[in-house]
Amino acid sequence: MTRYMPSPTRYDTMAYRRCGASGLLLPAVSLGLWHNFGEDATHETKRAICQAAFDAGITHFDLANNYGPPPGSAEEAFGQILKTDFAGYRDELIISSKAGYRMHPGPYGEYGSRKYLIASCDASLKRMGLDYVDIFYSHRFDPDTPLEETMGALDQIVRSGRALYAGISSYNSQRTREAVAILKELGTPCLIHQPSYNMLNRWVEKDGLKDTLSDLGIGSIAFTPLAQGMLTTKYLNGVPEGSRLTKGKSLRPEMVHEDVIKSIRGLNEIAESRGQTLAQMAIAWVLRGGQITTALIGASKPGQVVECAGAVANLDFTAEELAAIDALASEEAINLWARSSEA
Ligand SMILES: NC(=O)c1ccc[n+]([C@@H]2O[C@H](COP(=O)([O-])OP(=O)(O)OC[C@H]3O[C@@H](n4cnc5c(N)ncnc54)[C@H](OP(=O)(O)O)[C@@H]3O)[C@@H](O)[C@H]2O)c1
Repeated sequence: MTRYMPSPTRYDTMAYRRCGASGLLLPAVSLGLWHNFGEDATHETKRAICQAAFDAGITHFDLANNYGPPPGSAEEAFGQILKTDFAGYRDELIISSKAGYRMHPGPYGEYGSRKYLIASCDASLKRMGLDYVDIFYSHRFDPDTPLEETMGALDQIVRSGRALYAGISSYNSQRTREAVAILKELGTPCLIHQPSYNMLNRWVEKDGLKDTLSDLGIGSIAFTPLAQGMLTTKYLNGVPEGSRLTKGKSLRPEMVHEDVIKSIRGLNEIAESRGQTLAQMAIAWVLRGGQITTALIGASKPGQVVECAGAVANLDFTAEELAAIDALASEEAINLWARSSEA
């Protein structure tokens, strides 16, 4: 196994942005391990992706109990990488995990009970070989569990030292306000919200979530900023072998229809006129205006991470560019997480 030495220039080009009103700075681009960190990729590829991220100044790695496949295997793989490559760098990393979606069979294997959240956090720590995660999230809103119980579990997870900060994911503005108030009362502030958001999935704008979070002083990490790869040039000339669309998973063929490809072609022209790739412009777009703290990308190759990190070179848009993007890109039926935010 080749020995990894992080690049000495890793902090030179990445931008670090304050997470809400907290003391924590997050990189403008973060890396998530939802896909390509289970049995769908080799361990060497996983290592190369994480190394490329850290070398590019990406200090934040986002996981969840169920990432794989099989569930749990992404945390196991990342645990290995922490030992072989990132040993000695724990204090330079922000590592998050979550519980909320189905992890194991039976009544204690999903949603937001204290029973599930605390056991799941312990299992995540074990898989990653960690004493604590930096952020632990309620992965989705649970309509059948009192919010006091779910937030109480997050509070206990933080107080017991299993996590440094608490977060919520895919909660709408109203639920966010309720959750944040409970956490505040308990004395554990909510650090961050993790919503899906990109040019083709704009529920946060309709909901007013960005303003809600600014108002509450809570940071945000927008997941799927590339719409699972749709907001890149990847699908403009057919479907490349090995791409997410070929894998029969979360990116479904009906999402990548002819009309949206036409729009993406137009978006690509705007990106080119800005001297950016489309992936870079899509990331810059979610970060525009400063309300979103960080864009949470995924990657199947190290080169993709490097390209995405390069988005920080141009995060500014003219009003004309924004209007041209809006004329091309509107809401598509791609929000797989709507059930949580609509509850
Ligand atoms: N809280 C939640 O409920 C939730 C839900 C979903 C995701 N997330 C988090 O968000 C993270 C990101 O999700 P995501 O992977 O769907 O994000 P994404 O960044 O929208 O899509 C990532 C995919 O885009 C393609 N890609 C990335 N960079 C590229 C580049 N430079 N050029 C061409 N293609 C590129 C790759 O597809 P190919 O594989 O085709 O190469 C990659 O797998 C997850 O890992 C997870 O941490 C959270």
